[in-house]
Amino acid sequence: MVAALTPHADALALAGMDDAVFARWVALLEQRTGVVVAPQRKPFLVSAVRARMREVGHGNFVQYLEHISAPGAGAVEWATLVDRLTVHETRFFRHPPSFELIRQRWLPERMAAGSSTLHAWSVGCASGEEAWSLAMVLHQGLLGHGGKQHFGVTASDVSAAAVASARTAQYPRARLEEIPALYRADYVEMQGEAAFTLIASLRKRVAFARVNLLEAAAAPLQRLNLIFCQNVLIYFSRERRRELLDGLAGLLEPHGLLLIGPGEITGWSHPALTRVAWQGTLAYQRRS
Ligand SMILES: C[S@@+](CC[C@H](N)C(=O)[O-])C[C@H]1O[C@@H](n2cnc3c(N)ncnc32)[C@H](O)[C@@H]1O
Repeated sequence: MVAALTPHADALALAGMDDAVFARWVALLEQRTGVVVAPQRKPFLVSAVRARMREVGHGNFVQYLEHISAPGAGAVEWATLVDRLTVHETRFFRHPPSFELIRQRWLPERMAAGSSTLHAWSVGCASGEEAWSLAMVLHQGLLGHGGKQHFGVTASDVSAAAVASARTAQYPRARLEEIPALYRADYVEMQGEAAFTLIASLRKRVAFARVNLLEAAAAPLQRLNLIFCQNVLIYFSRERRRELLDGLAGLLEPHGLLLIGPGEITGWSHPALTRVAWQGTLAYQRRS
C-alpha cells in the first residue's frame, strides 16, 4: 500500500512547486551564482528543475533541493543543474558599439602608449562567441600596429557545460552571418558544409575556464587590461551588481577598460574609474 502511494505522492509533488519551496530554490541559486529568479520566471525554474529531476529519478522538489545542498554527490549534481538554470543566449559581436570602442579608440590609444601585452577577460562567456569576437578585434587591431604585441583572452562561465561547448570552438554555419565580413575572411575556417571554427592562431590566444563570478577574487585573474561583462549582471540584484563591479574595477590595470552592457547598472561609479564617452556603450577606464 505504501509502495503504491509513494509514486503517486511524488507525482503530485512534481506537478507543482509551492511558493515556500520556490523561495528556497531561488535563495539557493542566488547564494551560489548571484542569479535572481523573479516570481514571473517561476515556470522556467520549475520546468528546468523538473526536467533534471526526471533524468536522475528524483520525485520531490524538497528532497532534491536537500540532495543538491549537500556536499559530495550534491556538488556534482549541482554542476549539471546550474547549467540548466542559467540563460546562455549569446551571439558573435552581440553589442557592436562596444567592439567599435575597442577597435577605434581604446586599442589604438594603448598601442600609441607602447603597451606590449594585453590581457582581456570575457566574464560570462556562455558558448564562447563573445570571447572569439574579442580575440578577432584584438588580433586584427594589433596586426595593424605591427603585430609585435602579445595578447590573450581568458573566457569564463559558471556553467561547465557552456565552457566545454566554448572550448570546442565549433559553430553551425548559420551563425556565420553574425561575424562582420571584415573578420570572417581572416578568422573563420569552414568544417565541411554545416559548421565552422576559428583559425588555429586565434584559438591558441583564448583560454576557457569555469569561474563563478562570485568567487572571481579567488581566481588567478589580475592585472587585466580589458574586462567584458555583458548580459551577466542583469540577472543579479542591484546590490550584488555594485559589489561585483567594485571587485572588477580592482582587477584592472591602469588604462584598463571595463565594458558593461548599456543599462545594466545605473548610478554606479568608482573612485579609480572614469566613464568613457562613446555612443551606445557603458564603459569605464581605470585612471591609475
Ligand atoms: C546571457 S549569457 C551572456 C553571454 C555573453 N556575455 C553575451 O553577452 O552574449 C549569461 C552567462 O552568464 C553566466 N553566468 C551566470 N551567473 C554567473 C556567475 N555567477 N559567474 C559566471 N558566469 C555566470 C551564465 O552561465 C551565462 O552563460
